Amino acid sequence: MAQAMFRIWRGDARGGGFQDFTVQISDGMVVLDVVHQIQAEQANDLAVRWNCKAGKCGSCSAEINGHPKLMCMTRLSSLPLDRPVTVEPMRTFPLVRDLVTDVSWNYEVKKRIKPFQPRTPDAADGTWRMDQRDVDRVQEFRKCIECFLCQDVCHVLREHQLHREYIGPRFYVHTAALEMHPLDVANRLADLRGPGGLGYCNITKCCTKVCPEGIKITDNAIIPLKERVVDEFYDPVRRLFRIFRPKPQPPPAKGAPEAEPEPTRTAASSSAPR
Ligand code: SF4
Ligand code: SF4
Ligand code: FES
Repeated sequence: MAQAMFRIWRGDARGGGFQDFTVQISDGMVVLDVVHQIQAEQANDLAVRWNCKAGKCGSCSAEINGHPKLMCMTRLSSLPLDRPVTVEPMRTFPLVRDLVTDVSWNYEVKKRIKPFQPRTPDAADGTWRMDQRDVDRVQEFRKCIECFLCQDVCHVLREHQLHREYIGPRFYVHTAALEMHPLDVANRLADLRGPGGLGYCNITKCCTKVCPEGIKITDNAIIPLKERVVDEFYDPVRRLFRIFRPKPQPPPAKGAPEAEPEPTRTAASSSAPR
């Protein structure tokens, strides 16, 4: 069995620092296995949030050797072990303790986004007709596991701390899923341009690079949303078109379908409510 050195950040909002641990490692281990081993054998009070150990709950986000990653999906075989492996909490969110951050700001942002609002049914029996290509287009966005690694890496939040005037890539993905939904008739473009801060995004694609679900955040969500905002507010032909052809209206509340469910996070080890 080989040895490796892990350098793990310990502390809370008042301060802290890195602590070194020498661990025994074996084939197939991921970073979360090592953190659990340290917790079991060397530091019982080490705080870490995790849940599924399968890359699906989005709980175990951290920065490994300075890169935002899921601890449960980062194999030791992908890391250079001839030097210490650093593991630290996400920097963009307030620290709770050790590797655990308070991501509740994200849930507050989500509440401010207009929910799914379906148009009037196409048929008398209350059903709709949709083109399969329109249905397929939003499926990519629905893979999001709300790990918030994209929020962590985005410089508008990480460096400029514009949490009050910017919703971040995770919520551009969420908004794109709603805006591009073939049944949705709500208009979120003014919100994106104003309080959503879409103009702050300069399309660096850092968010896309860290997404563990491989969602093409910039190309498939942010750029189309930017194009829609430009069309809505800066295209004079489109403005005239809107005056003479108003948007379809939603039906009365009775009989409308529920908003489509988002991926769920089981509660056991998550500190923040959805
Ligand atoms: S592309 Fe935009 S949202 Fe993504 S990390 Fe860069 S600035 Fe942030
Ligand atoms: S878009 Fe990707 S990186 Fe961002 S929260 Fe969702 S899964 Fe995580
Ligand atoms: S424990 Fe890593 S994503 Fe669930």
